[in-house]
Amino acid sequence: MNADTPDTPSISELAELRLSRRTAMAGGLATAAAAFFGVTTPATAAGAGTGTGAAAAGPGRGGGRPLLGFPAIAPSVADEVMLPPGYRYDVLFPWGHPIVPSGPAFAEDAANSAADQARQAGDHHDGMWFFPLRDRRSGLLCVNHEATTENLLHTDGRAAWSPEKTAKSQAAHGVSVIQVEQDRRGGWQLAESRFARRVTMTTPIELTGPAAGHPLMRTGADPDGVLVLGTLNNCASGPTPWDTYLTCEETINKYFYYGEQPPPAGSVEERYGIGSESPYPWYTTDSRFDMRDEPNEYNRFGWVVEVDPFDPTSTPKKRTALGRMEHENAVVVRGRRGEAVVYMGDDTQFDYFYKFVGAEPIAKARRAGRSPLDEGTLYVARFDEDGSGRWLPLVHGEPGLTAADGFADQAQVLIHTRLAADAVGATPMDRPEWCTVQPHTGAVYFTCTNNTARTESVNAANPRLNNRYGHIMKIDENGDPSAVRFDWDIFLLAGDEASGATVPSDQAFGSPDGLWFDAVGRLWILTDGAQPQVDGGDQNNQMLVADTERGDIRRFLVGPPRCEITGITATPDGRSLFVNIQHPGDSGTPDNPRASSSWPDFSPTGRPRSATIVITREDGGVVGA
Ligand code: FEO
Ligand code: CA
Ligand code: CA
Repeated sequence: MNADTPDTPSISELAELRLSRRTAMAGGLATAAAAFFGVTTPATAAGAGTGTGAAAAGPGRGGGRPLLGFPAIAPSVADEVMLPPGYRYDVLFPWGHPIVPSGPAFAEDAANSAADQARQAGDHHDGMWFFPLRDRRSGLLCVNHEATTENLLHTDGRAAWSPEKTAKSQAAHGVSVIQVEQDRRGGWQLAESRFARRVTMTTPIELTGPAAGHPLMRTGADPDGVLVLGTLNNCASGPTPWDTYLTCEETINKYFYYGEQPPPAGSVEERYGIGSESPYPWYTTDSRFDMRDEPNEYNRFGWVVEVDPFDPTSTPKKRTALGRMEHENAVVVRGRRGEAVVYMGDDTQFDYFYKFVGAEPIAKARRAGRSPLDEGTLYVARFDEDGSGRWLPLVHGEPGLTAADGFADQAQVLIHTRLAADAVGATPMDRPEWCTVQPHTGAVYFTCTNNTARTESVNAANPRLNNRYGHIMKIDENGDPSAVRFDWDIFLLAGDEASGATVPSDQAFGSPDGLWFDAVGRLWILTDGAQPQVDGGDQNNQMLVADTERGDIRRFLVGPPRCEITGITATPDGRSLFVNIQHPGDSGTPDNPRASSSWPDFSPTGRPRSATIVITREDGGVVGA
């Protein structure tokens, strides 16, 4: 499973191939990624300078005004959110905060009930989006709650597990929709709002698209296979052009108990990461998570889910045409004919990058009362050695996707998306996480966060063995998001000098995960995982900003210990930036909840909390500018 072809070229051959292609394309100008950020390497030393800290711009290559106007900050291990001078942050929406001011107050000893939790911010904030309301000083903020730290979620942690603990844990997953308002001094608060709601693991959600009603989607509680209770492991997200919110189900395998023995080698369950254990004890009190009782329930998770934040009574929809995988985020753009094109990564070692192209223009579908996301073609990416690529259609009946290949119909192709992508020869990647589209050029960037399991062979798009620090890919659709061919490049290799990184050593980072172009084209890079060490010590996760035209990259934020930085959105004027700090201090225990962090409350009797923060400039300017 997932093995690269045995005859993959060596890393130096690949580097040569890539460099020669670039040289040909650029008319002799060797614009290798290594030169782009002003890194001095033997191959690119001419004319390049090393990064110089506060303004590590290098020579750059774009014209016009620089996008980045702040001094880079240093790495940090502090129990604090670090920002450049002139910036401040406020904690807006930490775990347990009521979704409206009149809701149940947070108990700092974690004594809130499951019913309280269902009216409060869930745990592990991840992707989010700000939908402005008409007055422009308020908006709806949709926030994903990906997972839980059970040791901190309950006063006594995982001890004496009970139905109430399962219910609280389930209520701490899902999505929050809150209304936030800015006061005259620029501060943000939550408002009482008719829009405020929680979507949790028990909210009814409709299955739509080709896989709805399929026999593999039917369960004892839902013999028609059309209505699921809940959404799970809501990782990252994306807005649609029609003002709804996409929330993406990622690591679903951890919630289902298969049995004492793991699934057989080569089984579908194994391909979807099901093991013999479930770190979540839900199955002990809720039989739908016990695969011995309900083998199909897990097929009903791993989808992209659409929530309409402007209709608090609406039933969210699982859009099965977008495939089933460990979805990271979903970025929707308009295709050549006005159809929805959706880019998506499957975050697992050696898994793939996808796009969906809708069957009809968005406007036509919506006029007819159809979803632009229910009918269309799902493609998976193949990255060829020469820098070109192909979107391979996952369509039933194509070679490898017939009944003889084990795919009874299109629904099964979608329910078993990973197997279908294996069958057509997609390129195994180093864990594709977030993707984002450059607002002016349409270029698609996506993170490959890391892959230490790549021990045997590389390919051109994943050129490092033991890829501890990850890289960022760039896809050029050449102006046509509906196209089946593309060009690609590696935008940067993360890490430190010793790992062959293509960023200046004073801006070193690892494990790029979140990735977002703001409206003017600043690329925000958010990390989750191993960071290059400083003086032999591990560093906290961070957020950097890149000017992709001028070749400038600067560290903007460093989080508290053990957190990941994820989830990013801004007000339309760019003057308030919302960022999520996920699972700070998650090594805490019931006896010692503040073992590694006290952020954000710093209460001697409290515990660390995932939270949405809002970042502003003290002079009221655009964040990052
Ligand atoms: Fe939920 Fe791949 O991060
Ligand atoms: Ca992530
Ligand atoms: Ca990650």
